[in-house]
Amino acid sequence: MTVKSGLLEILEQHKGETISGEWLAGRLGCTRAAVWKAVNALREDGYMIEAGANKGYMLSAETNRLSAEGIRPYLNCQEASVWVYKEVDSTNRAAKQKAMDHAASHGSVVAASRQSAGRGRRGRSFFSPEGGLYLSVVLEPWETLQESLLLTTAAAAAVYEAVEKLCGVSLDIKWVNDLYRNGKKVCGILTEAVTDFESGSIQFAVVGIGINLYQNPDTLPEELKGIAGSIFECREEAEKADLNRLVAEIVNNLMEEMKDLKLSPVYVAHNMIPGHEIRILDGERSRKALALEICQDGRLLVQEEDGSRTALSYGEVSIRLDGNGEKRE
Ligand code: BTN
Repeated sequence: MTVKSGLLEILEQHKGETISGEWLAGRLGCTRAAVWKAVNALREDGYMIEAGANKGYMLSAETNRLSAEGIRPYLNCQEASVWVYKEVDSTNRAAKQKAMDHAASHGSVVAASRQSAGRGRRGRSFFSPEGGLYLSVVLEPWETLQESLLLTTAAAAAVYEAVEKLCGVSLDIKWVNDLYRNGKKVCGILTEAVTDFESGSIQFAVVGIGINLYQNPDTLPEELKGIAGSIFECREEAEKADLNRLVAEIVNNLMEEMKDLKLSPVYVAHNMIPGHEIRILDGERSRKALALEICQDGRLLVQEEDGSRTALSYGEVSIRLDGNGEKRE
């Protein structure tokens, strides 16, 4: 690790506190002059670091830049690697590549402030401008596709809990891979498998999470107006959120769920779909049904109009809340 990177990691952990140059030099195993040089390099990158004569250095408490150094100290799994980009085409694509190159182990993260080619479900693109948080987590080893449904539900629960704890906002989960606030989508999840070409077996799963922190509704593309929402009410509020801790908290929650992967009670308790009339969109066709419950394997049990019951799987269908969205008892 470079002095600059090590210094940023310490300053991020002690945001708003003054730390002496001598102590920093000791911790980083370098001279005070090297610390000073690294401080200046970080300032050039835009970090607000105050220096008092003979007092030391302090990273401004308001600093809120997404960085690997800012995320790492909060991660429970210290062996995992972290990559952060200002912009990347897709964090899912980058994470898959790193997994295939054997650079990313279980729990490794790729995060970005925007994506130029964000990917959504069913081959759609995912609008990923500044004002959002985009991350992908590599999970391995991964054997059965059946379980990938539970992975998506685990990720949704991980986001729910992290956003509630660190942003003070309670979201609604929409089966299977979305989170909503006030009836608008604020987070989407895409779970992809990395398969071995020769054996066809699944080596890794990459769970991609896109969160809209704040987006001015007027600047949304026409097709997202009235559909996409934000976690925060305004830009100022979003800028105060500690993004590094939010990423780490989501990853920690997900890794915890992975220890014993099953349907999370959080996912069930905050799901907005069971009990509602829904419209199931299956390719060109659409039909009405009553959503009954989330099954233990993550599928959605519905009652069809003819009274029969079907368990819906991820990828098969999209669903829309029908009617006035009121719950049927
Ligand atoms: C959906 O709602 O259709 C799923 C969207 C998933 C978007 C996330 S953003 C981070 C990761 N990288 C991608 O390219 N996609 C996922």
